[in-house]
Amino acid sequence: MLRIGVMVSGGGTNLQAILDKITDGNLKNCVVVTVVSNNKNAYALERAKQNDIPSAVISRKAFADTKEYDKALIKHFTEFKCDLIVLAGFLSLIGEGFIKLFKNRIINIHPSLIPSFCGKGYYGIVPHQKALEYGVKVTGATVHFVEPEYDSGPVILQKAVAVEEGDTPESLQKRVMEQAEWEILPEAIRLISNNRLKVDGRIVRIL
Ligand code: GRF
Repeated sequence: MLRIGVMVSGGGTNLQAILDKITDGNLKNCVVVTVVSNNKNAYALERAKQNDIPSAVISRKAFADTKEYDKALIKHFTEFKCDLIVLAGFLSLIGEGFIKLFKNRIINIHPSLIPSFCGKGYYGIVPHQKALEYGVKVTGATVHFVEPEYDSGPVILQKAVAVEEGDTPESLQKRVMEQAEWEILPEAIRLISNNRLKVDGRIVRIL
């Protein structure tokens, strides 16, 4: 059984996508054992409650420094015996200590085709605004392993989504979430739960 800890900051639609795929049997041998948010008002915490999943609010600003914040996260996810940490709409940076301890066991969903429209400040609606400003015809979403720099780790899965005439940042974000994010994040978890990923430097191979 793959024990998953999910980190959230907002609405939790990516968390919901994972829970739905577990419920409908698409994601076998996986269980979300805890949800952690940096934002006590995140609706994602309500989704955890509705699914009887233990949750916690652990926010960087509650700690003297990143090292203490790291220690709190490590303590929490170790206590829940998590095999995999999933950043699902999580908007804060996590520390190097945590990343090193959970090397290649932390994944993130980003709402663009990395390396486009990513890095510090590119979160939520911003990647979609930038994609429209640039005039790209295709955008999408990326699941990648987490490394200390924002959105910098080896790419696991990507899915492209067409930009349509008359798109607003909001309509584009909705399509990327529905057609890409909510598909490739659970799929990446499924591959990991079946030991189907091999990381070779920066290259992630699906076995
Ligand atoms: C999504 O666009 C996700 O890609 C980004 O945050 C947004 C909200 O995600 N990281 P969620 O609804 O909280 O899962």
